[in-house]
Amino acid sequence: MRWLAPIPPRRGCLLLCVLLVALCSIPGSSSSRVVTLDSIDIFTTHELLPISKPTVYFRCNGDNNKTYLLDVKEANSIYTFKGEESWQPLTELPEKKCKRCGLYEEDTFIKDDVFDEWELCSSDFKDSKYTHFKEGQFNATFLCSNCTASAGHSGAHESSAEVETKKASVAVIIIVSVLASVLVIIGLFLGYKYWQKRKRERDQARFLKLFEEGDDIDDELGLSNEL
Ligand SMILES: *[C@@H]1O[C@H](CO)[C@@H](O)[C@H](O)[C@H]1NC(C)=O
Ligand SMILES: *[C@@H]1O[C@H](CO)[C@@H](O)[C@H](O)[C@H]1NC(C)=O
Ligand SMILES: *[C@@H]1O[C@H](CO)[C@@H](O)[C@H](O)[C@H]1NC(C)=O
Repeated sequence: MRWLAPIPPRRGCLLLCVLLVALCSIPGSSSSRVVTLDSIDIFTTHELLPISKPTVYFRCNGDNNKTYLLDVKEANSIYTFKGEESWQPLTELPEKKCKRCGLYEEDTFIKDDVFDEWELCSSDFKDSKYTHFKEGQFNATFLCSNCTASAGHSGAHESSAEVETKKASVAVIIIVSVLASVLVIIGLFLGYKYWQKRKRERDQARFLKLFEEGDDIDDELGLSNEL
């Protein structure tokens, strides 16, 4: 009766190791929060001479580069972008921190003019969109599709925490089920061994009983002989 082929302990360990390795190689689920400029409308050029054109740039603290918005030359006209322009994206936001960013106008001889400086946060994006408006300066709409992965005020943060929790619970489920199957296999193996032992004992008992019965017959035979 070999219906139960018990897995040798060594192979059981191998199975566990393979599962653990597979679990650890699940790629990290960090999503890139790249911010692109969707549209901008500057209300002033900060230029003294009306004919001179401004050099507008966007820059975040921590980024080395200024992003020059070379098309933005006229005040009070809306510039819209596809998000694929050579200078896009503007920046990339970290997972849990805001970035201090600003829109500036470059000047050659004097300090650069500031349109505005503010904290750019992924939680500000609603439906991937965020509009920053500064009265008398500019109105700009930024896009970041991964900044609002799920609904709510701190969507991006929550979603990544959720993903982490899910990954952890999947790991726990896998480990627990592996341990449970190992225990079940060990239990079945011990049960099978016990059943074998019992069977042997029963066979032995039957064998002995057969002898006893034989003795009885002998006795009877002996009796009949004596008679
Ligand atoms: C969002 O994040 C994922 C994962 O890193 C990436 O593949 C995708 O390109 C990102 N989407 C955008 C619009 O940045
Ligand atoms: C700065 O710009 C250069 C050239 O466009 C680019 O290779 C580099 O990755 C940029 N660095 C940062 C921090 O954006
Ligand atoms: C800013 O621009 C957006 C997009 O073009 C527009 O919907 C919004 O009404 C503008 N806000 C102001 C105050 O001009």
